[in-house]
Amino acid sequence: MRKVITYGTFDLFHKGHYNLLKRAKALGDYLIVGVTTEHFDEARGKVNVIDPIVDRIENVRKTGFADQIIVEDHDGQKIEDIQKYGADIFTVGSDWVGTFDYLKSFCKVVYLSRTPGVSSSQLRNERFNIVSIGIVGTGRIAPRFLSEVKYVSGAIIECAYNPERESAVRFEAAHGIRTYTENYEGFLEQVDAVYIASPHETHYDYAKRAILAGKHVLCEKPLTFTKAEAEELYTLAREHHAVLMEGVKTAYCPGFLQMMNVAKSGIIGEIRDVEACFSRIADIESREMTDRIYGGAFLEYGGYPLLPIIKLLGINYKEIVIDSLPGENGIDLYTKIHLRYPQGFAMAKMGVGVKSEGQLIIAGTKGYILAKSPWWQTRKFEIRYEDPNKIDTYELRFQGDGLRYEVGDFVSKINGRGENSNYKLTPEESIAMADIVEQFLKIREGKVS
Ligand code: CTP
Repeated sequence: MRKVITYGTFDLFHKGHYNLLKRAKALGDYLIVGVTTEHFDEARGKVNVIDPIVDRIENVRKTGFADQIIVEDHDGQKIEDIQKYGADIFTVGSDWVGTFDYLKSFCKVVYLSRTPGVSSSQLRNERFNIVSIGIVGTGRIAPRFLSEVKYVSGAIIECAYNPERESAVRFEAAHGIRTYTENYEGFLEQVDAVYIASPHETHYDYAKRAILAGKHVLCEKPLTFTKAEAEELYTLAREHHAVLMEGVKTAYCPGFLQMMNVAKSGIIGEIRDVEACFSRIADIESREMTDRIYGGAFLEYGGYPLLPIIKLLGINYKEIVIDSLPGENGIDLYTKIHLRYPQGFAMAKMGVGVKSEGQLIIAGTKGYILAKSPWWQTRKFEIRYEDPNKIDTYELRFQGDGLRYEVGDFVSKINGRGENSNYKLTPEESIAMADIVEQFLKIREGKVS
């Protein structure tokens, strides 16, 4: 008996999938089909799969070609399966020619010609309106956003906006994206949604005007400088049926979400302390180091260390102490924030002029989680216990620079598929962060000692 094995996502089952399975079956006597899990797809960068795995398996089953269906959930599994099930032939569509040649030492590899003119990506795009996004601000983050959006189906970058003509012209020339320099409202008319990556002090105004024009907003952190402004934006977004998301990208990364859930699962007992640090020595000439009002460590990086604290201990702290080491020009080179909760402590540290170990420690009554730098791009964390020999290690996948996960969520929400994904960073949590920003700024302005 010749056994054939093939793998796929089989999302929005289409005739290309049907033809592939039919021909795969014809290569032998027994066909094994591996269907990928959501988690595996997400980890390898396919962030917009629509059908749940049970539906995708059912669709494969209904073709009648599969004699056995298995689930694919990790890298390296293909070699394992070929040996385990004794497969004689591995096959996939011709879009993968060459990729699986490494399997030739285990079985025969056959690339079947792909059915032209159909793919799940194309169907996903047809099924939902493509979201056209305008980028506000063309500084350092914008090019990263461009390269990450390529991994999200259903989104295109339409145009950009920067009131500074020189930067706008440079961006347009470098990336071939029409960049507006005046008439923000005119720019908004060209798009369904905006990604705001302009200087911090402009976030609120750009976000508000976009929401009022009925546009969806993904705004870099910090969303606003005051609690009231953040509340206002979320209220306006609700009223105008616009999606508003604060771009604390760690919040949307699968590995970080898993770490938060493991922490809350009770495995380390009750959580009593969260310590998080993020530091990046900034260039002396950079905006972080020179902008006396809007530069500095906290405004630049505060969102990262505050995120796990707020996710794990909540927004109802009893006391907050914010302290900074100022540079000569008044910016904070290094800031420490202590939070006191009824049953716990937290400390967030961030630096642009002081370098420290960028780690996250979540301390509980039975053990602790240690995530080393860069924990904000969660690829690995450990659970440690009283017994130093017992360490549970979690290794996770993190693709690119992580922006694709937040953009994927943004696009899903706009298409009405991701309303429930609010839990990743709720409006209340985002507002609580704005509240801390407000308190920080008051202290820095000397209004509060
Ligand atoms: N396939 C095919 N012809 C198509 C589309 C897919 O033969 N028009 C094959 C793929 O080569 C693969 C299998 O079907 O062997 C499952 O592919 P999958 O990745 O699930 O489907 P795609 O439509 O290619 O999905 P996506 O657009 O998300 O990449």
